[in-house]
Amino acid sequence: MDRALDLLQKARTRPAARFLTDWLPRLGLHGGVALDLGCGSGAEAEYLAKNGFMVDAIDKSDTAVKYTTERCQGLTVDVIQGDFREFQLRPGYYALGVAINSLSFVEKEACRNLLLSVQASIKSGGAVLLGVFGPEHAWAASRPDMSFWTPEEFRKLWNGWDILALDEYKGPWPLVSGEEIYQHRLHLSAKKR
Ligand SMILES: C[S@@+](CC[C@H](N)C(=O)[O-])C[C@H]1O[C@@H](n2cnc3c(N)ncnc32)[C@H](O)[C@@H]1O
Repeated sequence: MDRALDLLQKARTRPAARFLTDWLPRLGLHGGVALDLGCGSGAEAEYLAKNGFMVDAIDKSDTAVKYTTERCQGLTVDVIQGDFREFQLRPGYYALGVAINSLSFVEKEACRNLLLSVQASIKSGGAVLLGVFGPEHAWAASRPDMSFWTPEEFRKLWNGWDILALDEYKGPWPLVSGEEIYQHRLHLSAKKR
């Protein structure tokens, strides 16, 4: 198969991130509404719906919306197209907030505001699973339009939450294009009291 088609096919059919599949059973959540910000190809939205959640899956990209809509046909997933900075998230509404490698695509202040609005949108006893980029990421030097968080500054934002884990991953990692770049990622699992 042609390499570009092969990569596209992989992106469309890839399984949900292990960060989600490992953590979801440990959060003690039993359904409700989940938010997936920057849903990409829809793997996580599909997984959440198949595990008892109604899902609001948001992405600005036409391709992401198309893939997620196709992948989640017949499931309890609302695919919403738009810039996640512009959504008024309903306070205390979501059982779970998921955003994997998407929030870092906006600059720091916007990302901070978004995180505050995600926090407010989670109901008491709910949780978040978030993946953001760290300052050693290959893109950190050249992308002022993105945000990169040290574990210490990211942790400070979650004052009053129970942090279950804040894990750091560093190393070469392939992009959807197949190109491998040095990535620095933080994965936060936290519960709202
Ligand atoms: C690297 S992909 C990650 C997709 C998926 N969460 C995953 O883990 O594979 C980042 C996604 O965030 C979306 N995105 C980036 N900035 C956005 C914004 N301001 N509003 C909505 N979606 C955004 C992109 O369109 C893309 O689908």
